[in-house]
Formats: sequence, structure tokens, C-alpha cells
Amino acid sequence: MAQSNGKVAFVTGASSGIGFAVSVELAKRGYKVYAGARRVDDMKPLKKFGIIPVNLDVTSAESISAARELIELENDHLDILLNNAGNFRVAPAIEVSDEDFIRCYEVNLYGPIRVTREFSKLIIKGKGLFAYTTSNAGMMPVPFASIYSSSKAALSAYASTLAFEVKPFGVQVLDFVSGGVKTGITQVEHPVLNSDSLYRIDGRDLMREIGDKFEPNQLMDVNVYAVKAANDLEAALNGVGFFSNATYFRSFRGSASSISWFVTSFLSRWFLETVLLLAFGLKDGFNAIKKKHSSKSK
Ligand SMILES: NC(=O)c1ccc[n+]([C@@H]2O[C@H](COP(=O)([O-])OP(=O)(O)OC[C@H]3O[C@@H](n4cnc5c(N)ncnc54)[C@H](OP(=O)(O)O)[C@@H]3O)[C@@H](O)[C@H]2O)c1
Repeated sequence: MAQSNGKVAFVTGASSGIGFAVSVELAKRGYKVYAGARRVDDMKPLKKFGIIPVNLDVTSAESISAARELIELENDHLDILLNNAGNFRVAPAIEVSDEDFIRCYEVNLYGPIRVTREFSKLIIKGKGLFAYTTSNAGMMPVPFASIYSSSKAALSAYASTLAFEVKPFGVQVLDFVSGGVKTGITQVEHPVLNSDSLYRIDGRDLMREIGDKFEPNQLMDVNVYAVKAANDLEAALNGVGFFSNATYFRSFRGSASSISWFVTSFLSRWFLETVLLLAFGLKDGFNAIKKKHSSKSK
């Protein structure tokens, strides 16, 4: 186990993927790390790094409170809170079910807001850092990801305003506007369109086709991402280099994250849509839909 640096971190969504890898990276750098998620058994391997698994469901206020009580019992402050727990949902914006959008918002948006509120006193005591794993999908119109994208865009906006409000307390905020990282998040389900979906055209399921084209090998390795993320967390917390005087940071990590930022910041909407139509192989399908719906009902 690494020598302690006296700093304490709590990472949510740490039973797999980014949260798991960042927890390990922080522990290796001497942080006392608490790792939160529902699948406590999956966090057992973290114990060999000295990481303390915490049973956490970010959709439950009681569970969040219990996690805070446990951490507060052993620590008088917190240096880093990484709100990373998240889930991924796809469905056309005009056909998404209540269950799907409520679930997505509960985990990706309301959860981190509740966790932030619950741990705010500990972070303020530590003059610490609130961090969020958001997504470049929150900046650009990824087809059939409107709910996921909007949950992440809302979380980014929350983080930005939070940063302004907590400035007087000497607290920092870091938003990881993440691109593709090789984890299980997109492979949990392989969704198909409803049988009566308007996006079923000429026997094709346009949403499923995007999923089939998805190539995980183009994504950033999760351990590479974790090292970069831990560097950013430490730089923001300690105020070094590029991060010296600022209190709000956005870090573009993961595959295609910087390109997404550039394209959405500087190029026209027309150009962006053209690129996305080609990249997602939707051109023919959208033309077929356009043809089918070309006459306007009176
Ligand atoms: N991978 C990417 O390409 C990518 C890109 C941009 C942003 N992100 C974001 O990165 C974050 C981590 O995702 P990942 O890619 O590492 O996927 P992942 O391996 O599926 O991790 C998701 C984590 O969230 C936890 N989680 C889900 N629902 C929860 C709940 N109700 N309460 C507590 N924890 C919950 C899961 O743990 P349990 O199921 O055990 O609770 C799991 O540890 C997410 O917020 C995701 O949106 C990922």
C-alpha cells in the first residue's frame, strides 16, 4: 500500500470502469479512498489497495446519508468528491419511456446533486474539490442519446454554477467532459426500437444499426484515462500549473473529447449535423424517413 498523503477522497460509481480505475490510481498516490456503488462484492478487489468500499445507491437519500455518516465518523473533512456514478440510456427523443428518462435523470443528475449537498460541509472543511464525470454527449446531438446527453449537460451546468457559489469557501470544481472510454457502460444492453417506432424504416432499425457499428477498440483504455483524471484532480486540488488561480475547471479526457469540444464550439450546426449523419451511418435512413413523411397532413 502507498504511503498516506493525508488526503481523503470519495468516488461514486466505483464498482467498475472509470470509478474503479480512478479509485485505484488515487490510492496508489497516497489518498485514503472511499469507493461507493451498489455492487459491493465487485469492489472487494479494491481492498488490496487500502480502499474502503461503501454501499451506495445515489438514487436513495437514505443511502447517501448513511455513506456520509460512515465517512464522517472516520474523517473530519473530505478533499475530493468524484461524482462519477452514471448510467447510459438510448431511445429516440420522441419515443423514450417515462421509466427510462426518470431512471437516467435519477442516477446521472439528481444523484450527484444529492451527493454534493450531503457532502458539502465535509468538502468545505477540507477546502476540497467537487468533481463530476459528465460527457461530450452533453455538448453535441448524439442521435438517440437525448436523455443521457441532457442529463450530462444539466450536470455540467450545475457544476459550473456550483463553482461560482462555492468560491468564497475556497472550494474547487472540476468537470470531466469525457469522451469515449473503454468500460462496460454501453454494453449493458443492446437496445432496439419499439415495434411501432417511426425510426423503423424499410425493415431497418436505425438505432440498433448505430449500436452494431459501435467499435469499443477505438475508445481510450480506462487505466490511461484514470492516470490523466488523477493528474487533473491533483492539479485542481493543489492549484498547480495551468490550474494555479482558477477554481472551476473543465477537463476533456477520453477519445474524441477535444475534437468534440472544437467542433461544437467553432463549427456551424450544419457542418456538425453533416458529419454526425455520416459518422453514424444515418444518411440513407434519414432520407428514407424524409421521403415517407414528405407530404404534410392538413
Ligand atoms: N465510458 C465512457 O465512454 C464514458 C464517456 C463519458 C462519460 N462517462 C461517464 O463515466 C461515468 C462512469 O461510467 P463508466 O464508463 O465507468 O461505466 P460503468 O463501468 O458502467 O460504471 C458505472 C458506475 O456507476 C455506478 N452506478 C450506476 N447506478 C448507480 C446508483 N444508482 N448508485 C450508485 N452507483 C451507481 C455503477 O455501480 P453499481 O451498478 O454497482 O451501483 C458503476 O460503478 C458515468 O457517469 C458515465 O456516464 C463514461
